[in-house]
Amino acid sequence: MKTITLKTPSMEGRIHIGADVIEMRLPTLRAGQKNFVVTDSNVYALYSAWFEKYFSNAEIFVLPAGEEYKNFTSLQSILIKMTGAGMHRTSRVFAVGGGVVGDIAGLAASLFMRGVSCVQIPTTLLAQVDSSVGGKTAVDLCGVKNVVGAFYQPCEVLVSPDFLKTLPAREIKCGLGEIVKYAALNAEIFDKLESNIDKLADLDFLASLTELCIRHKAQVVEGDEKENGERKSLNVGHTTGHAIELESGLSHGEGVLYGMRIETKIAIAQGVCNRKYGESLLALIDKALAVAPQSMPDFSQIGQAAEKARADKKNADDGKIRMAVAQDKGAWTSLALPFEEYKNCLIEYAK
Ligand code: NAD
Ligand code: GLY
Repeated sequence: MKTITLKTPSMEGRIHIGADVIEMRLPTLRAGQKNFVVTDSNVYALYSAWFEKYFSNAEIFVLPAGEEYKNFTSLQSILIKMTGAGMHRTSRVFAVGGGVVGDIAGLAASLFMRGVSCVQIPTTLLAQVDSSVGGKTAVDLCGVKNVVGAFYQPCEVLVSPDFLKTLPAREIKCGLGEIVKYAALNAEIFDKLESNIDKLADLDFLASLTELCIRHKAQVVEGDEKENGERKSLNVGHTTGHAIELESGLSHGEGVLYGMRIETKIAIAQGVCNRKYGESLLALIDKALAVAPQSMPDFSQIGQAAEKARADKKNADDGKIRMAVAQDKGAWTSLALPFEEYKNCLIEYAK
């Protein structure tokens, strides 16, 4: 087991990575207080024996699987069940699942009695390399992604590669969305991906990248927990990605891959991304999309996705659409375009 410490003003959290993390940490973490577990219907069905083994005395809330349940109604149901089950300030919430479970359970933990301890146990590649770390918690509202949330750090994150064995190929592709994002920000991750381009569906290879992604994220979050500066880099591809996700119904990681592809093309055309480097990043993105190939989404209505980008959290009051984009190997920058120009770029570069 490897351990990374993530220290912010509110918490000194620990991220444990390895096949032995559950045995090494879970018995201690669940001892001595009431425990409340949030998971989703797929994870609960796949891992019923695991839940029986580790959480037979805990309250378990099973959320229907899917982004559409990352909403206020589900949040309220979780909080009602926590109250009814007699959870206290000393109780602990365990989020066992992908990014949807992690985001909503983390938000519930931040709200219940103004904050109870939270442990993240991510079970998707995307959640392991990214969403379980860094304390962003949220639900979607009125068709806007993650618009209601809190920065609330988990006390521990247990990252076990064993959970990845049951992931369908499409979810591996989604995890690659965030891994390629880290490649766009970190030269070491970029080189590893590029030199192992035929291993993008190889779980052992991907698990070997988890620690690098988490170390990168932990360092960024330690320096800028509330996203006033460097943390904005972690949104590479996400402005357009979120808009595509909402408009097309693609998963988050797929939206990020398409978003990065379009935004990288925009950045090259605007002269802010080195063309040669940008093209090698585009090649990585295409390889990731090919891990679980599907027909290309219908981008004929991409202008509607531009409308969704208007509500993005990163925008200011000047009407411009803000994006974090790749600049060169290991370097990013921000790009703000007037809405009409952004919309025209989407129509041009979604092809
Ligand atoms: P998800 O949570 O919907 O999980 C994807 C699918 O995989 C679901 O159907 C789930 O039931 C299933 N699943 C989970 N674990 C499994 C396993 N071990 N085996 C088989 N199936 C399994 O989606 P995700 O891709 O994990 O996360 C996306 C969410 O994360 C989005 O809501 C996104 O906004 C959020 N996110 C948050 C952050 C953050 O910093 N908080 C960062 C990135 C993404
Ligand atoms: N996934 C973006 C962040 O955690 O900041």
